[in-house]
Parts: sequence; structure tokens; C-alpha cells
Amino acid sequence: MKISVIGAGNVGATCAEVIAHRRIASEIVLLDIREGFAEGKALDMMQTATLNGFNTRISGSTNDYSKTAGSSVVVITSGIPRKPGMTREELIGINAGIVKSVSENVLSHSPDAVIVVVSNPMDTMTYLALRDSKLPKNRIIGMGGILDSSRFKCYLSLALNAPPSDISGMVIGGHGDTTMIPLTRLANYNGVPVSQFLSAEALQKVAADTMVGGATLTGLLGTSAWYAPGAAVGALVDSIVNDQKKLFPCCVYLDGEYGQKDICIGVPVIVGKNGWEKIVDIKLTADEQAAFNKSAEAVRSMNSVLATLTA
Ligand code: NAI
Ligand code: 2OP
Repeated sequence: MKISVIGAGNVGATCAEVIAHRRIASEIVLLDIREGFAEGKALDMMQTATLNGFNTRISGSTNDYSKTAGSSVVVITSGIPRKPGMTREELIGINAGIVKSVSENVLSHSPDAVIVVVSNPMDTMTYLALRDSKLPKNRIIGMGGILDSSRFKCYLSLALNAPPSDISGMVIGGHGDTTMIPLTRLANYNGVPVSQFLSAEALQKVAADTMVGGATLTGLLGTSAWYAPGAAVGALVDSIVNDQKKLFPCCVYLDGEYGQKDICIGVPVIVGKNGWEKIVDIKLTADEQAAFNKSAEAVRSMNSVLATLTA
């Protein structure tokens, strides 16, 4: 099983390492436009194989897509972060150009691959990749909700002073500070609703911390996070490669589900060998549905920038 990761930066390299550690691929190809960068990262990682006990062959490529040929899964992390003074439109314009050309190159060599989109703004980039590739909708998955849910569970475990492995919870909606929706009502501590242990104020704080989870790390690190994003991609790829049927919140195309059409946004899905296989309807409350509709509006407004680029 061959997996390619486009963009050998912080998130791309970390997810490649997580995939190697999970021992789910015989081969990983890292590709970047920066001369020698992916080759260097791949070689460094290969030199951990005997120490970390994996046999995955990891190689790097400077923009040569023939090396990615025959991949079962391709993860797209290539892009640039928003820089001071840059408008949202400018960022979308640059990353849209990158994601568009990367998707075309990837699919010309791996026409049957499942594509995982990570580059931001992720909901819009997922929509763009699906729109332009015309792939069956189940083969394009945006990763954001798995990361946001992991942050939600982390903050819950800290507030509860409970082991993270006992915490279950999910974040749906767009992958953005104001668009994500931590589903506090459904979060539980080994099956017991968290509202039994935490006050409404404490739960609100957990939700608020979750929503600014990415921004908090960017403030601390000076760039966006990579350990949890890389681990989240690794978990998603594992469910695809091993047909695990994990229930994850992922950014997928909606055609009427959750009251929305013609948009890619985070909802719970079952993930297996065919990509996302089924959208799970979790029956939102009126307030949750209103928050979801608002989130979809914000994602649509991001998507509308795409029309100005292609016009
Ligand atoms: P980074 O700057 O460390 O890595 C990006 C890499 O992409 C660089 O090495 C760059 O040379 C490469 N690149 C740029 N254009 C390329 C092209 N046309 N072809 C191939 N490679 C190209 O950035 P980092 O931290 O790895 O983040 C990557 C992306 O993922 C960003 O857009 C970031 O905002 C996003 N992100 C998304 C998350 C999510 O949950 N969806 C979480 C964390 C980051
Ligand atoms: C994150 O949530 C910025 O999407 C990136 O860390």
C-alpha cells in the first residue's frame, strides 16, 4: 500500500511519520516543490526505522509526480499560511492555485486514489478539489474535524481530570475559530454525559478553548500546529487503508444532508476503504442546527471567493 503526502512541511512530514509508526503502508512518498526538502525529510525519517521499528520505505521527491504513481491515498498539505497584511482573498487565491495544480498532478498518476485535503482554508480547498477533479464525492475528504475533536477531548480531559482515553466527543461544522461546533451535549466520560461532572460555565470554557485551539497554538509557536494535525491525518488514513469504518467528523460534500447543499463541511461520516462511505445523521437540536446553518453560511462566503478567481 502506497501513500503520498504532498507538502513536506510541518504537517506533511509529521503525518508521514505517524503513518510510518502506525505501520499501515509499505511505501510513503513525500513531495515538495522546495529542492531537496522532501528527499531530506524522507531520508532523515528512514534513518529512524530501525529505532522505531517500522519497515515502511519512505522516499522524497522534488515535484516529480511520477514517484507518487499508484498511490491508494494522497494527502494534500501543500500551501502557504496567511502572512501579515495578506487578505483572506489573497490567501485563498494562492492556496487555491496550489491545491488545483497539485490535485491535477496527483490524479494523473494515481487516478484511483482517495484524496485527503488538509491545506487551509480547508473546507473551501476540499470543495475546490472536488469541483475541479469531478471525482466521486466519497473520494475527497477534508481533515479538520478530527483535529478539532481531539482538541475538544483534550480540554475536556483536563477539565475533568480524567484520562483522555475515557473521553468521547465530536466537533462538527467548518474548520475555523468561529465556524466549528463542539457538540457538548453528546460528549461523555466513559458513557456518562460530561454535564454530570462539569458546570455550564466550565463546559462553555472548554468549547471556547476548543474553538480557538489552532489560534492559541499559532500564538505560542509563531506558526500553526503540526503534532495533532499530523496525528489526526494519520488516524484518518489508517481508517481508509484498513477499512476500519471509524466514525469521524470530516469535511465532505453535502447534497441536502443536514439541510445543506453544494458545500463541503464537517459532519460525522463512516470512513473505510472507499473514502467516506456514509454520512451519519445525528439529529441536531434546533440550536445546534442553527449553529450549523451559520457555519455553512460562513464557509459559503469563503467559497464565493473561488468564483472571483475563476471568473
Ligand atoms: P509548511 O509551510 O510547514 O509546509 C507547507 C509545505 O508545502 C512547504 O514545505 C512548501 O514548500 C510546500 N508547498 C508549497 N507549494 C507547493 C506545491 N505547489 N507543491 C508541493 N509543495 C508545495 O505548512 P504546514 O504547517 O505544514 O501547513 C500546511 C497547510 O496545512 C497550511 O495550509 C495550514 O494552514 C494547513 N493546516 C491545516 C490543518 C487542518 O486541520 N486542516 C491543521 C494544520 C495546518
Ligand atoms: C489548526 O487548526 C491552523 O488549521 C490549523 O491548527
